[in-house]
Amino acid sequence: MAKRVPLIAGNWKMNKTVKESVELVLALKQKLSDVKEREILVCPPYTSLYAVKENLKNSNIKVGAQNMYFEKSGAFTGEISPLMLKDIGCDYVIIGHSERRQYFGETDDSVNKKMKVAFENGITPIVCVGETLQQREKNEAFSVIEKQIKIGVAGLSGDQITKVVIAYEPVWAIGTGKTASPQQAEEIHAFIRKLYFEMYGKDSSEAIRILYGGSVKPDNISEIMKQPNIDGGLIGGAALKADDFIKLVSY
Ligand code: 13P
Repeated sequence: MAKRVPLIAGNWKMNKTVKESVELVLALKQKLSDVKEREILVCPPYTSLYAVKENLKNSNIKVGAQNMYFEKSGAFTGEISPLMLKDIGCDYVIIGHSERRQYFGETDDSVNKKMKVAFENGITPIVCVGETLQQREKNEAFSVIEKQIKIGVAGLSGDQITKVVIAYEPVWAIGTGKTASPQQAEEIHAFIRKLYFEMYGKDSSEAIRILYGGSVKPDNISEIMKQPNIDGGLIGGAALKADDFIKLVSY
């Protein structure tokens, strides 16, 4: 089976000034320089991206954005384009986070457009999927996630299909302190891999990385990462403190 390198990603959300961002990444850079066989990613707010990227030159920490628009340029007040992220040197971009879906009108179709444009510009998309509590209680988790993935990755090329990172983030576990149990998370991750197998075959399903996100903390990450189909974490709150993020990366 293809070896999947674990990806530990921090989604800083709407937190940190430029100065605070630089302080945090300088601490991470120093303490995480020896980490091997693990991919490390930070996703600061747009205003900090450039400074963070500059300060992480020659380090093993990659930089990603939390969103982007799907047009290259033009009259789209307030938006950020893939060209701008490429210019900064972003390696990744988070697409379709549940907070974008919930508060800013992101849909599966806009997610799909953004995924394609990200790849066209050499940026790897991390597509977020996950059910709300209400959907889980109505036994709709599998069908919701299946739809999000099928539309989200529609039309990508063979190579892109495998490079995509999928993040399973149950909405009820985000910022609530309520993580999915490792078994609950594994059940969905296994389902996503099986779905990928049915859609794209064995090689793609074994290569695709699926992250878990939702109240991942230093004290629960090891159990989560022991699950066979979990390939990393997308971490919110605990990624904002150097000590916590260092522990998470070194789980
Ligand atoms: P928390 O780790 O704060 O629950 O956030 C998870 C998340 O939404 C990461 O994208």
